[in-house]
Amino acid sequence: MANTSTYKGIYAMHKYWGKKPFNEISKFIEQYSVPGETVMDCFCGSGVTLIEAVKAGRKAIGVDLNPIAIKLAKVSMTVVEIEKINKTFKDIKEKLQKTINSLYEMEYDGEQTMVTHTIWKNDVPIEVWYCTDKEKKKVRVGNNIDVRMCNEPPIAPKWYPESVMYENSRINVSKEQKVSDLFTPRALVGLSLICDEIKKIEDENLRAVFELTLSGTLSQASNLVFVIRGRKKNEGELSKAEVGSWVIGYWVPEEHFEINVWNCFENRFKRILKGEQEIFELFFDKTDDYMNQHLDLINGSATDIPIEENSVDYVFIDPPHANRILYMEQSLMWNAWLELDSNINWNDEIIVSEAKDRKEKNTDNYNELLDSAFAEISRVLRPGKYFSMAFNCLDDDMWIDILNLFVAHGFEIRDIVPLEYSATSVIQDNRKNALKTDFVLTFQNTGNEEISRIVFKNDDMDLRDRINEVLKDNPEYEVYNVMNALFELTIPKGYIYKVSKIVKMCAEIME
Ligand SMILES: C[S@@+](CC[C@H](N)C(=O)[O-])C[C@H]1O[C@@H](n2cnc3c(N)ncnc32)[C@H](O)[C@@H]1O
Repeated sequence: MANTSTYKGIYAMHKYWGKKPFNEISKFIEQYSVPGETVMDCFCGSGVTLIEAVKAGRKAIGVDLNPIAIKLAKVSMTVVEIEKINKTFKDIKEKLQKTINSLYEMEYDGEQTMVTHTIWKNDVPIEVWYCTDKEKKKVRVGNNIDVRMCNEPPIAPKWYPESVMYENSRINVSKEQKVSDLFTPRALVGLSLICDEIKKIEDENLRAVFELTLSGTLSQASNLVFVIRGRKKNEGELSKAEVGSWVIGYWVPEEHFEINVWNCFENRFKRILKGEQEIFELFFDKTDDYMNQHLDLINGSATDIPIEENSVDYVFIDPPHANRILYMEQSLMWNAWLELDSNINWNDEIIVSEAKDRKEKNTDNYNELLDSAFAEISRVLRPGKYFSMAFNCLDDDMWIDILNLFVAHGFEIRDIVPLEYSATSVIQDNRKNALKTDFVLTFQNTGNEEISRIVFKNDDMDLRDRINEVLKDNPEYEVYNVMNALFELTIPKGYIYKVSKIVKMCAEIME
């Protein structure tokens, strides 16, 4: 069942797209490996597989091309004393809170006020939320002073990133757009002061916690925060504005919020702190030596993994799905602020991108690189061991291409099961007949190069009969169960039915 508890604690510290539900991943780790063995995720993203592997007493190897992913995974598995974290936050607060808040303070209606939120529409402050000594939230219309305070803040900014983003209309990045264009001048001052203070933290692990607090703050402190407005019943008028949050892409809505930077930072810190408390509880008894022996994080490419052959006992991966989420283009905002963007290996990213200057990132390149990654997995995975991959696709050609990629590398299919998304996931596909879950395909590294390629069988009558047979014996089956049963039946014979047809026919039969 969908599980809303999936993204709490560690997993709620920082956004990352495509995070997998930890409780589901841990079941695969338990099923296909034993304590002491080595589990690898060479598309590790935020590190869910690795965290679950180490929690379960396995050794974990994580590879990702995206620097922020590796940082996130590292922080998520490094114990830092909670007292030190609190003390450092207190120091930063003492140094900066007043200064940053002064960027939002002004006299209004005879009172000293501080702006918490401004709603900008076409560069006009149409609504301003502010607080006074007595009241937490008051609302007024914006004025020229708001415009001036935002665009000409009285304090000079420290360093902030001016990295140029890849022009890509799909994620709303225009020509020559810079990361800094996503923020108001006032927000840049606040964020750059925080960034500067964080750089002064000497302890590397402690600094990393605050770097993530900063990168986790960015979206809410940017112009990407849209305004949620419902309609009042019967009246047709707009109801009160509510604060949205960044989901995906760099779309600056015509009407967007600008939120007080200090409040954004403090709120993010509270989440980070909860995550840090969980990290402490999970790993406080693991010495540095233990962690060094049990966790290997590599900021590199799955197509060239710097580890020895036959050294891994189980692989779980969740590679990018073609052009669905542009991981590194979308992470540039984070990577740039943390100065992690100078050596990014864009060439090896396994992605299909519509960016103007990434023309080579097409389907052929995607398949080629994925093929190299599979070759690497087959090299490092011990013979007879298992390899699982999360996959969600209704495109028949992609299913057969993927299955054949495995076959070509000597993997034999053993299992196909659904992986439930959390109810809070926004990347679900809710079209009718869509596969509402990811599937996890599990293969065994048999090294058998004799397995022949899998082909499609186009025989609707035959497919209908098979589905009816499966459902007769198992009337409780859902579409994915039927798919699994059919795959189990036909793959050993060298063919599959088209996934789209299975889904469509199941819907008709099950109606
Ligand atoms: C679907 S995400 C993984 C999310 C992860 N399962 C989690 O729970 O956070 C896919 C990841 O593949 C990474 N990636 C893309 N090309 C890669 C490559 N050549 N080598 C390693 N990682 C790559 C992306 O940076 C992204 O983090």
